[in-house]
Amino acid sequence: MSSFDIGIDLGTANTIITIGGKGIVINEPSVVAYDKKKHRVLAVGSDAYKMIGRTPEYIVAVKPLRDGVISDHETTEAMVAAFIKKVSGSMMLKPRIILCVPSSITDVENRAVIEAALSAGARKVYIIKEPIAALIGAGVDISKAAGTMVVDIGGGTTDIAVTSFNGIVQDISLKIAGNTFDEAIIKYISYKYKVLIGEKTAEQAKMQISNVYDPDENKKMVVKGRNLIKGLPEAIEISEKDTYEALKDLVEEISLGIKNVLERTPPELVGDILNSGIIMTGGGALLKGFDKYIHDAIGAPCRVADNPLECVARGVEAAFGLSEELLDGFEKISLYRYK
Ligand SMILES: Nc1ncnc2c1ncn2[C@@H]1O[C@H](COP(=O)(O)OP(=O)(O)OP(=O)(O)O)[C@@H](O)[C@H]1O
Ligand SMILES: [Mg+2]
Repeated sequence: MSSFDIGIDLGTANTIITIGGKGIVINEPSVVAYDKKKHRVLAVGSDAYKMIGRTPEYIVAVKPLRDGVISDHETTEAMVAAFIKKVSGSMMLKPRIILCVPSSITDVENRAVIEAALSAGARKVYIIKEPIAALIGAGVDISKAAGTMVVDIGGGTTDIAVTSFNGIVQDISLKIAGNTFDEAIIKYISYKYKVLIGEKTAEQAKMQISNVYDPDENKKMVVKGRNLIKGLPEAIEISEKDTYEALKDLVEEISLGIKNVLERTPPELVGDILNSGIIMTGGGALLKGFDKYIHDAIGAPCRVADNPLECVARGVEAAFGLSEELLDGFEKISLYRYK
């Protein structure tokens, strides 16, 4: 990978950009602030994140990839272009770009993102599938003719895939992931305590007091919200048991998704997975007890990759190196040349 190679993990929640030789140069929320009147980007990433919910009508500060679907082409393209500009500002040569996009986006949306990269100055654009990048980034050798299983739980989607010999054998993408977990916590707390909490509060509760395997009723946290009956602000104490109740059905659905993929996987590869285990990546893999839950439910060993939030980005970065080795293997490792 040379310094003119840019890797982009365009995630629903976070965008991580790598540059050859420098590693990760940007790791910021996938948010853009856009002036609709003047058709220009005002801020991107962390700066735009601070503006959410605080802008006048003609400025939008949005997460354009929320829930793994592109809600707005124009803002998504603008965000991608702004991120690329931010990292390639002083580069004289046009970069090669590998993009990892949410698996659930449509071909048209995919094309919009590719166009954005090209118009931002890319010489060539490649696309890599998220499960493949996640496994490479987790340090797994996917080139062998042996089955490996990855469960990447991001902000918008959970991608479950079985790979062998550099390719995807079976996969599924569920629209259940970090954002849905946050929403479920909001819903449960408003139902049980009649207090409406915000998205950021729910996310904090998920990170601090969630255990989907072995919840501890004594592990508590104070959250602030609005009492739905009185309409006034209120602070309440919630416990790990509450977040468990909120999340248990969603965790079970993900485990059913894993079963579904395994049922469609050839038996030889299932045997490999029983030996080598399931690898979990993405921010959702940090949910406490998730690996133990999957281990029990599926009966195969399960481990969370080191630094799960960065696996896809690291995999995208490494894919440039693999492209030399696998010259016409671009297809095989799910990369393709666009131009
Ligand atoms: N410690 C933690 N415990 C539970 N969830 C966490 C933790 N840290 C981060 N997350 C969640 O991980 C999600 C973001 O993960 P990630 O960056 O892998 O998603 P993404 O790549 O942007 O999304 P996608 O792959 O779906 O497009 C967020 O929903 C965030 O709340
Ligand atoms: Mg991701």
